Amino acid sequence: MGGCLVLFSFLLLAGVGHGHTWGGLFPQFYDHSCPQAKEIVRSIVAQAVARETRMAASLVRLHFHDCFVKGCDASVLLDNSTSIVSEKGSNPNKNSLRGFDVVDEIKAALEHACPGTVSCADILALAARDSTVLAGGPYWDVPLGRRDSLGASIQGSNNDIPAPNNTLPTIVTKFKLQGLDVADVVALSGAHTIGFSRCTSFRQRLYNQTGNGVADATLDASYAAYLRQGCPSSGGDDNLFPLDLVTSARFDNFYFKNILAGRGLLSSDEVLLTKSAETAALVKAYAEDVELFFRHFAESMVKMGNISPLTGEKGEIRKNCRRVNGNGY
Ligand code: HEM
Ligand SMILES: *[C@@H]1O[C@H](CO)[C@@H](O)[C@H](O)[C@H]1NC(C)=O
Ligand SMILES: *[C@@H]1O[C@H](CO)[C@@H](O)[C@H](O)[C@H]1NC(C)=O
Ligand SMILES: *[C@@H]1O[C@H](CO)[C@@H](O)[C@H](O)[C@H]1NC(C)=O
Repeated sequence: MGGCLVLFSFLLLAGVGHGHTWGGLFPQFYDHSCPQAKEIVRSIVAQAVARETRMAASLVRLHFHDCFVKGCDASVLLDNSTSIVSEKGSNPNKNSLRGFDVVDEIKAALEHACPGTVSCADILALAARDSTVLAGGPYWDVPLGRRDSLGASIQGSNNDIPAPNNTLPTIVTKFKLQGLDVADVVALSGAHTIGFSRCTSFRQRLYNQTGNGVADATLDASYAAYLRQGCPSSGGDDNLFPLDLVTSARFDNFYFKNILAGRGLLSSDEVLLTKSAETAALVKAYAEDVELFFRHFAESMVKMGNISPLTGEKGEIRKNCRRVNGNGY
């Protein structure tokens, strides 16, 4: 009885009664139903990152690729089945998206502690925050209460996630479709302060940027020469390069400093400086003030995490993040 009253007070405090603020999500969502949830996620993410530093980056990206397709509903985690074409096979994701095994490990631990309670979509949101903190970046409270989708969208994954050679207007449009603005584009691109890219994602810049057989002129010459050594004009598609060549394992603002020096890896990184005065001003501001970047990154991650969540009676809490609950459950 007392528990119900406390929970009810939480709902009022969280503004859920008014149905807005955080799209119906709130950080205390599991405080009564699964008080250990956040600590379980944090400890398994910490173990995974201790095993492999890059996993922090991979988990941040996984949340992004989830949220941009049908909202933050764990659609990205579904495997192929008779009724589902997995988003894992899309152009942005195939041979690239990682971290699925870590999510499975987290889900198994949560099902053991609190069966049928914590959604896969919330696991992705928490793992992205924990990964950011573990890499040295900012902390934020993660609004929770997302439920899991009953389907996936391979078309959405192919069309709605920006490509590294998209123009800046195209990237901005793809963010606007999600309710995110130009400032969110720059702040969230700062996630490229950690992690790696395959050669195939930036090769065009090294050899044939605009289709006339010459390299991207904005690339620093010695950086371009270094990249060409490991990223030949053909072959070596999966060769890896750090998105931030100075501190690839550290969540800091070197990503923005690199862009100012002609050492942003992807075309989508570089265009933030050269194709718009508004984005260029933000690149400079974040390069000069890491605290400003951290504050904006945290705010934009909460905004991204609020994209079209399934709440209330919609969706389900999956038992296994790779498939929808069937009759067997
Ligand atoms: C602005 C548009 C964006 C474009 C065009 C873009 C594109 C890319 C590409 C091409 C890669 C390398 C993939 C590969 O070659 O395997 C990558 C990696 C990455 N992206 Fe983005 N991205 C964008 C925005 C974001 C956002 C909003 C986030 C998160 C908030 C993010 C987080 C990451 C991370 C952490 C990695 C490294 C992943 C790893 O090492 O496993 N990106 N991105
Ligand atoms: C899912 O199935 C489709 C169609 O059969 C196939 O093209 C795709 O590669 C599969 N995706 C994955 C991730 O295995
Ligand atoms: C962008 O890259 C894709 C995949 O490599 C390629 O098919 C496409 O032609 C490129 N687009 C532009 C505008 O260069
Ligand atoms: C550069 O790209 C254009 C257009 O995609 C293509 O026709 C041309 O053959 C390419 N040149 C080289 C040197 O790869």
